[in-house]
Amino acid sequence: MTIKDKIQKDKLPKHIAIIMDGNGRWAAKQGNQRIFGHEHGVESVRSTVEGATEIGIQYLTLYAFSTENWSRPHDEVNALMGLLVQAINDETEKLKEQNVRLTMIGDFASLPKDVQTKLNWSINELSKCTGLTLVLALSYSSKWEITEAIKKIAQDVKDDKLQIDNIDKDILDNYLATVGIPDPELLIRTSGENRISNFLLWQIAYSEFYFTPVLWPDFRKENLYEAICDYQNRERRFGKTSQQLVS
Ligand code: FPP
Repeated sequence: MTIKDKIQKDKLPKHIAIIMDGNGRWAAKQGNQRIFGHEHGVESVRSTVEGATEIGIQYLTLYAFSTENWSRPHDEVNALMGLLVQAINDETEKLKEQNVRLTMIGDFASLPKDVQTKLNWSINELSKCTGLTLVLALSYSSKWEITEAIKKIAQDVKDDKLQIDNIDKDILDNYLATVGIPDPELLIRTSGENRISNFLLWQIAYSEFYFTPVLWPDFRKENLYEAICDYQNRERRFGKTSQQLVS
């Protein structure tokens, strides 16, 4: 029995979010530059997307570049942006064959023009796909997202489009970058770091966390399946008691 066979099809998470971490350490372990790790990370993205589509996951969000990542050395930022353009260019046809729709969350305007153009092209190419929705978090951070949401809410209150008394958690959902996307039931972080790093802070209120020591360039669909099996063995109580869940 393979790990894939152990997955219970009726208990699949709709949305899995992944903090892809460990590219730099993976490269350093082999005496290579950090970008070498990022390049190999693309193969992990390919395998993970393939794995998610094979079992029918609806949403997969990948934390590919945070707002804080802009503070990395210029060479690394430039190389990462170049890699993104290349990966999007090379993978779009295969994504279409897999019926994958693409979207992004993050500060689109802060991305280099060539990344914006390639992203828009790919999002458009894949817009009719109805399978997995692949969400790339690019120039994203939760604090950026929540700040933007508050600004828009304040503007709508000022313009009389929204009443303060009507603001509740569902209204706030509508002002976030993830509008229309269900909250992730499962959040995975690779590389043995036990942090959230400014990722989907609002949306992971009740997510199950799965931390694995596997470095991102070594991560494959089988690792995704292990995380899903682990998730399926957990009791999600949402503040209730175990007895309440049984009855
Ligand atoms: C974190 O590892 C990884 C990133 C900041 C970049 C992730 C990018 C990719 C996997 C490549 C392209 C992505 C797509 C979606 C095509 P790190 O550099 O922080 O590693 P370290 O903690 O070992 O230094």
